[in-house]
Amino acid sequence: MAQFDAATTRANLMKQSEAHTGTIVQMMRGQRPFDAALVNAAFAQWADTAQKLPGLFLENSKTGGGNRASPKIWLSKKDFDQKAAAFGKAVADNRDRAKVSVNGLRAAIPVVGKACDNCHKDYRLGKQ
Ligand code: HEC
Repeated sequence: MAQFDAATTRANLMKQSEAHTGTIVQMMRGQRPFDAALVNAAFAQWADTAQKLPGLFLENSKTGGGNRASPKIWLSKKDFDQKAAAFGKAVADNRDRAKVSVNGLRAAIPVVGKACDNCHKDYRLGKQ
């Protein structure tokens, strides 16, 4: 059986998060119709990601192909986990208003996006 690959698992979660963000931004820009089911799917996947992320920075996953995880994560894991929790809270707190309308999305998504950025600025390395 293949060994559990934390670096690939977290990269996949991030890519899915980004794909959902892209769909939502299209709705906010009127490039696709508002769809509450897609909004719900995005928030469900973000909530799942927020919950799983802290457990995916194992000692043996500091290196690996295409890894953009900053070594700082392992040095300040508590702060990193708090940023993941803050992301989870932003997702939970904004889900209800987001799924109602485009205006709801416009209010909710900046709060969620800020939580993404707030973690990346400290813990994601630039593109290699
Ligand atoms: C608690 C921290 C944290 C939060 C919150 C977070 N990310 Fe990330 N993100 C990371 C880290 C760390 C990496 C680098 C992971 C790696 O390469 O192992 C990353 C990588 C990425 C990547 C690059 C993936 C790749 O392999 O090229 C994208 C895209 C991304 N995140 C999108 C998002 C989006 C969108 C959100 C919010 C909806 C989000 N992230 C929330 C920490 C976070």
